[in-house]
Amino acid sequence: MSTSITDLVDLNQQSLLIAAASIAFNPLFWNIVAQYHNKLLTNIFGGNSRLACYFLAIVIFSLGIFRDHLFKEALADQPKHPALESDNVKLAAYALFGVGNVLVVTSMWALGVTGTYLGDYFGILMDEMVTGFPFNVTDAPMYYGSTLSFLGATLYYGKPAGFFLTAWIFIVYKIALSYENPFTAGIYARKEAAEKKSGKKAQ
Ligand SMILES: *[C@@H]1O[C@H](CO)[C@@H](O)[C@H](O)[C@H]1NC(C)=O
Repeated sequence: MSTSITDLVDLNQQSLLIAAASIAFNPLFWNIVAQYHNKLLTNIFGGNSRLACYFLAIVIFSLGIFRDHLFKEALADQPKHPALESDNVKLAAYALFGVGNVLVVTSMWALGVTGTYLGDYFGILMDEMVTGFPFNVTDAPMYYGSTLSFLGATLYYGKPAGFFLTAWIFIVYKIALSYENPFTAGIYARKEAAEKKSGKKAQ
């Protein structure tokens, strides 16, 4: 008996599509808002860019919680696979979920709220690049940590559909990084150039 994709994933469940849409929406939303509407948001908060960034942080954080909820709901509608029902799989699930969350939490700890939530787009720059843990392990601990957590949750629930959603998250984050990294690099290059010009950096 051969296995086809329709044995692993129930494509007729709307919740699957909704979760996939939410996964794609989130980085799209925060990139568009932070990149093109940071001035509008700052104006709404009376010119206080820090407050505007905090507000955006709350929105992004809430969107993330909502997406995680939709992911869980989507998996609830999906078939289990017997190959994923062993104790070893559960152990791997805990390990992945644990490592993923360590990466996410330590990265937030290292960057702070404005550093985590696109503060640089609002002109709130870090004094210097953070290079310690977890940034010495991966360049995007927040994204890869989150992806690992989804993989862990997939194994925990034993639902193959989760692999597809996790792969989708990975792709979406890869695309987001390809926009965010050059943009952030540009911001810091301009800062560097401005500091050199004003003689602030003595080197
Ligand atoms: C990353 O930094 C931490 C301390 O900040 C250190 O313990 C760890 O060994 C480093 N890891 C790598 C891969 O360099």
